[in-house]
Amino acid sequence: MREVARLLSTARNVSVLSGAGISVESGLPTFRGAEGLWRNVRAEDLATPEAFERDPSLVWDWYRMRRERMGAVAPNPAHLTLARLEPRFEAFSVVTQNIDGLHQKAGSRRVIELHGNIWRVRCFTHPAHRFSEAETRALEAGAQAEKVPHCPCGGAMRPDVVWFGEPLDPETLEAAIYAVRAATVLLVVGTSAVVYPAAALPGTAREAGAVVVEINPQETPLSGEAHIVLRGPAGAVLPELERLMDGRAT
Ligand code: OAD
Repeated sequence: MREVARLLSTARNVSVLSGAGISVESGLPTFRGAEGLWRNVRAEDLATPEAFERDPSLVWDWYRMRRERMGAVAPNPAHLTLARLEPRFEAFSVVTQNIDGLHQKAGSRRVIELHGNIWRVRCFTHPAHRFSEAETRALEAGAQAEKVPHCPCGGAMRPDVVWFGEPLDPETLEAAIYAVRAATVLLVVGTSAVVYPAAALPGTAREAGAVVVEINPQETPLSGEAHIVLRGPAGAVLPELERLMDGRAT
């Protein structure tokens, strides 16, 4: 812990790769593991383009349920610590696999969302028809009774998230690779590190010379590759690192 705090105290460029585990202490489930989302539902039924073609309203029901849960929770000390740390560095970015928007809610400014954002929609028929969060709210407010919202072009709207079998947005992936390659420290927080291409980012950072630090209460396939492993919940480890950086250890 002290070693990581020392590294962070002198680093200029820091990047974070986050996953579902960072939002656990806000009350959101992860995907894998005993209570994981993928234990109760089959991803193929709900999170693929084929599932949406088959039954768009079923897919929308599931995403509305997830929106309700995500909308009812607040950022936890892990998100809030990262937001407070950001201005201390010349460059700092959070590359997240999460679609919950909690990093931004906490105040993080440079957030690269690899898997999209549940609070935005885009057109299923014309993928170039994309909408911001504010536009999404306006569109949905104007069509409250619709089970499947529609694009002004007439196409069905889908959540602006990455589904199984779909590529990541190339520019977003490029930005993430650039961020982790430029970092001298990469904090990998709350991800099982099994879903690619996100899971390749720690290796990319390491090859480019970064110190890779895993923060996770459980072992993952990354644990053996990381330079330093901090075993514990992100909501406890990150605030403690901040205290150590300030010379205020508890
Ligand atoms: P997973 O559910 O695969 O992994 C969550 C990780 O969080 C596990 O390694 C847990 O040990 C860890 N964890 C649990 N509680 C924690 C805590 N309090 N603090 C820190 N870590 C904790 O979630 P992801 O790795 O995010 O993709 O999953 C990656 C992708 O798989 C998701 O983005 C999603 C999913 O399919 C798409 O939907 C495209």
